[in-house]
Amino acid sequence: MKFFLDTADLVQIEEAASWGAVAGVTTNPSLYARIGGKLADFPAHIARICALIDGPVSAEAMGLTRDALIREGRELAGIAPNVVVKIPTMVEGLAATRALANEGIRVNMTLCFTVPQAILAARSGARYVSPFVGRFDDSSEDGIEHLANIVRSLENYDFADTGVNGERIEVIAASIRSAQHVTQAALIGADIATVPFSVLKKCVEHPLTTNGLAAFQEDWKKVDNA
Ligand code: E4P
Repeated sequence: MKFFLDTADLVQIEEAASWGAVAGVTTNPSLYARIGGKLADFPAHIARICALIDGPVSAEAMGLTRDALIREGRELAGIAPNVVVKIPTMVEGLAATRALANEGIRVNMTLCFTVPQAILAARSGARYVSPFVGRFDDSSEDGIEHLANIVRSLENYDFADTGVNGERIEVIAASIRSAQHVTQAALIGADIATVPFSVLKKCVEHPLTTNGLAAFQEDWKKVDNA
């Protein structure tokens, strides 16, 4: 499973990229608003992220019609070769995804919650589909179970002929809230987990690692250096 970072924060992206284990970034309108981003700066901001990360960077198109989504998708894809256009799962989004995929533009179909939505995303040519786990949990449903159903259902079929350059659709486990979600996503076989920086840090840590490190440091002081 690959790790993507789910943030628009350049400091977090630069730090996580330096760890060498982050393969991409996903942003969304809420994450950009959270860092105080300005509308006019959005393309330049995405370009900065693309320069920091050697991998796909998802930037969301905000139109609600296929024409608007296609126009925005082309603009976003023109920012850098590693931009992936994020498009919401809806009828207009499917139509836009097909048109963009036919032009060789990669799409991450977002706000996906069900198996039929994920299969339609694959059929429309999406390069990635993002089932949201945590938002199901927030409404007292089991987001991991929904993710498992989506992964399993996509594995039943060969979508190689539907996407860009014959690339197989990959599942991005999104809306991840904890290291436990990451564990479960990996066990299910999600291709990618996109995680907030706080969760990525938690994935590195374990109390036994911390305590073990402290003990090794203490014991090292006892070694005779004469
Ligand atoms: C995915 O691409 C989304 O940006 C994100 O994972 C949504 O997460 P949230 O439910 O924590 O907002």
